[in-house]
Amino acid sequence: MTKRKPLIAGNWKMYKTGPQAAETANRLRSLVSEFVDVDVMVAPPFTALGIVAEILKGSVICVGGQDLFWEVEGAYTGEISAPMLKAAGCTYVIIGHSERRQYFGETNASVNRKIRAALNGGLFPVVCVGESEAERESNQTFSVVQQQLEEGLEGLAFDEVQRASIAYEPVWAIGTGKTATTDQAQEVHKFIREWIDKAYGNSVANAIRILYGGSVKPENISDLMAMADIDGALVGGASLDADSFAALVGFQVDSVTDKA
Ligand code: PGA
Repeated sequence: MTKRKPLIAGNWKMYKTGPQAAETANRLRSLVSEFVDVDVMVAPPFTALGIVAEILKGSVICVGGQDLFWEVEGAYTGEISAPMLKAAGCTYVIIGHSERRQYFGETNASVNRKIRAALNGGLFPVVCVGESEAERESNQTFSVVQQQLEEGLEGLAFDEVQRASIAYEPVWAIGTGKTATTDQAQEVHKFIREWIDKAYGNSVANAIRILYGGSVKPENISDLMAMADIDGALVGGASLDADSFAALVGFQVDSVTDKA
């Protein structure tokens, strides 16, 4: 089976003002080769989207939102819609990140509405799933992930699911330095692909990208990417520094080790 073109995505979370984001984007643009055979995306905070998109225009690096609201426009103070993200230069949008689920009441049902809104707005959703530490310890990893997929993707057509990527992010591995082992990650990625196969058929299952997220660093990305069902990474902390993110894009452990 041929592997899918990898997607390496950086989630800047609530870091970087406009000027700080612009500095990182400029550096990144100079570091990431136009010929790299990887799709690359960075998701700055909303206030920096415009400036980052402007800097990265014409480069291989795409821009994404970290979240969106499902309505197109209206009296929804504080929210941002798919057309707004698109007009700001976004190609992708992250949906259902565990921090949104944990701190902002995101549910599988709201994830489902947001995925539809993203697709209707011409954005590629990166849909996050993953179990907490307690769920893993009580052997609920597969059932939790399955429920997130079933409810999150409910009612979507085959071609819609194909335009999405799934990011498996075990909550206990996010920002903790505790990466899942390659076997732990591969086991869940395989489970996700098999679930997609059953629900949407073989061609969707073979085409869809399943990213791993949770303490991905230049030092561990090659081992993760070598696994059969890992098609990329959703990176938080290590995406904030342009050099480290560029190393992740090139899977070039050496370039960062040399610098240190
Ligand atoms: P991390 O975050 O790389 O800092 O663990 C990953 C994520 O939250 O997507």
